[in-house]
Amino acid sequence: MQQRTIGTRKVGAIGLGGMPMSIEGRPDEDRSIRTIHAALDAGVTLIDTADAYHRDAGEVGHNEALIAKALSSWQGDRSEVLVATKGGHLRPGDGSWTLNGRPDYLKEAAKASLQRLGGDAIGLYQFHRPDPDVPYAESVGALADLLDEGVIEMAGISNANPDQIREAQEVLGGRLVSVQNQFSPAFRSSRPELDLCAELGIAFLPWSPLGGISKAGDLGRRHDAFAEVAEAHDVSPQRVALAWELALAPVVVPIPGASRPESITDSVQADTLELSADEVERLSAETLD
Ligand SMILES: NC(=O)c1ccc[n+]([C@@H]2O[C@H](COP(=O)([O-])OP(=O)(O)OC[C@H]3O[C@@H](n4cnc5c(N)ncnc54)[C@H](OP(=O)(O)O)[C@@H]3O)[C@@H](O)[C@H]2O)c1
Repeated sequence: MQQRTIGTRKVGAIGLGGMPMSIEGRPDEDRSIRTIHAALDAGVTLIDTADAYHRDAGEVGHNEALIAKALSSWQGDRSEVLVATKGGHLRPGDGSWTLNGRPDYLKEAAKASLQRLGGDAIGLYQFHRPDPDVPYAESVGALADLLDEGVIEMAGISNANPDQIREAQEVLGGRLVSVQNQFSPAFRSSRPELDLCAELGIAFLPWSPLGGISKAGDLGRRHDAFAEVAEAHDVSPQRVALAWELALAPVVVPIPGASRPESITDSVQADTLELSADEVERLSAETLD
């Protein structure tokens, strides 16, 4: 796979999002492990997770533990795999998502994530979502402390606007390496953040890059332009969506979710799908309903 840069690391241009393997509707563990192994075998070296990717109360870190387990039984070179986790979101177990951006909480959460993931430090730790009850600089300040203490190797943020990206970069003293925002054919309002990341040389990780778990399978039916380009290349519309995202800027590293080996095996092939400039323009210009 072509390599892209996140901070000091090179990763395959298509990553794997772990969320579908741990929240509502998740598959059994055996299928999840096979999905993660299929991704790794196909050259994926970025796996995105979060301590909040679990379903029930009392199983915080389900997805982190799953990824650690899959990595421990994989025969390849684990040192090349960057596991990116997140803290600051919580799931009480009733289906809702709550926030906690207090620095003390984030520092404890990161240490708990490190325990589950194993190793000396977390490769990439991302502040999951701004907490309106806590000044943003204070939350991001916890990441600066975690970097200084060596608990995390690199720091990122998620669900941030351009002002927050600039603020985080300042609080971290220039050490912000990634921004993870929602971006897909159906959700394009993070384009200013994508463009800012391209300008600053910060990795941009589109989340729900296919439109989200419940809508990803319908991408071609929802987006005619993507279906037509897919037909012309004889590939899936999902592959076209990921290739289009890759074409928008060299800092983009999509993290499509998967709960089946076939999905991620198809998605990684976006790496070699060459879209013409006209096709990229047409997909970018698609009008949304
Ligand atoms: N930072 C945040 O706030 C935030 C929020 C949401 C998500 N995320 C991250 O972003 C990742 C991706 O988002 P997401 O999982 O919500 O949505 P998504 O990537 O848009 O869609 C995931 C679904 O797409 C299907 N899929 C994947 N590749 C496919 C292909 N080539 N052809 C057909 N179907 C395909 C998978 O189906 P199968 O399940 O059948 O394999 C999967 O369930 C998450 O896993 C998570 O790591 C972050």
